[in-house]
Amino acid sequence: MRKVTVVGAGNVGATCANVLAHENVVNEIVLLDLKGDMAKGKALDIWQQAPIDKFSTRLIGTDDYAATAGSDVVVITAGIPRKPGMSRDDLISINAKIVTSVTESILEHTPNPIIIVVSNPLDVMTFAAFKASGLDSSRVMGMAGILDTARYRAFLATALDVSPRDIRAVLMGGHGDTMVPLPRYTTVSGIPVQEMIGNEELDAIVTRTKKGGGELVGLMGTSAWCAPGAAAAQMVATIMRDERRIYPCCAWLTGEYGVEDLYLGVPVVLGKNGIEKIIELQLNEEESQLLKESAEAVRGVVDTFKGMNLV
Ligand code: NAI
Ligand code: 2OP
Repeated sequence: MRKVTVVGAGNVGATCANVLAHENVVNEIVLLDLKGDMAKGKALDIWQQAPIDKFSTRLIGTDDYAATAGSDVVVITAGIPRKPGMSRDDLISINAKIVTSVTESILEHTPNPIIIVVSNPLDVMTFAAFKASGLDSSRVMGMAGILDTARYRAFLATALDVSPRDIRAVLMGGHGDTMVPLPRYTTVSGIPVQEMIGNEELDAIVTRTKKGGGELVGLMGTSAWCAPGAAAAQMVATIMRDERRIYPCCAWLTGEYGVEDLYLGVPVVLGKNGIEKIIELQLNEEESQLLKESAEAVRGVVDTFKGMNLV
């Protein structure tokens, strides 16, 4: 049986389960949350969508980790969003404890899953899951790049008045203001984007992308969930289908791009074993410098986390 667990049945987790159910790529999705009835309710609601939308994926809602046994992939969305007055360090500490305990509970029932972390701060929470799991780094990754690239592609599609499907792009670095969209690797149906749009407009889109998460928090009072949930579901479906598609994902670097022992967003090949390959682009000097600055920013957050001695 093909089985996926989504931990955290909040906005992102329930959306991920819903989008994944429509893909018909697994037999069962377990939606687990501390709030067991809420998880049960959301799983039942999505299952009742099946006759309408014609999918067969079964859904189970629970607060019991025994139900997660034998999961091929686990998506971790459990955590709290940053609240007014809460410091970044408080958020790291609270969410790292959650991600660590979730990872340990999952491993008790499934010894060798592929784990996709969504909880924020993303790059350091992925590291926390990696440390807590003891799994090979190819099996622990974070979701951010697909979302950030989708925002960049959506903004470009609006500006160019073309389908977002035709915009292909690469974006690297941490999930935050230092992320590095790469116009030199952006095409519109194979046409270099710089032939389609002026530099000033492109720069404005890059800046808006970097602040894309904050823009939505400003509008909705909480962080986004439709695109984030769909992005995580896309990673799961790609792995389950062993498609070997190339996406920007948060991956463990051991010297690639000159970055040692750090989780950071880079292009990877995703397949049945998780991260099958990290792709190393020939970045120019300016791009390399931006990536270096992003890596330094992420390392600063990781150092704060390490100083907390949580794992
Ligand atoms: P939410 O508050 O709607 O859902 C979080 C859920 O986690 C809640 O239902 C809560 O009960 C559950 N939870 C908390 N502790 C738990 C535990 N120990 N075990 C099981 N469940 C637990 O939040 P939302 O909007 O779904 O966001 C989830 C996380 O994803 C946040 O950390 C958010 O910042 C992050 N996020 C990351 C994105 C990315 O690009 N990586 C994009 C959007 C959100
Ligand atoms: C987002 O980018 C806040 O990580 C969240 O929407």
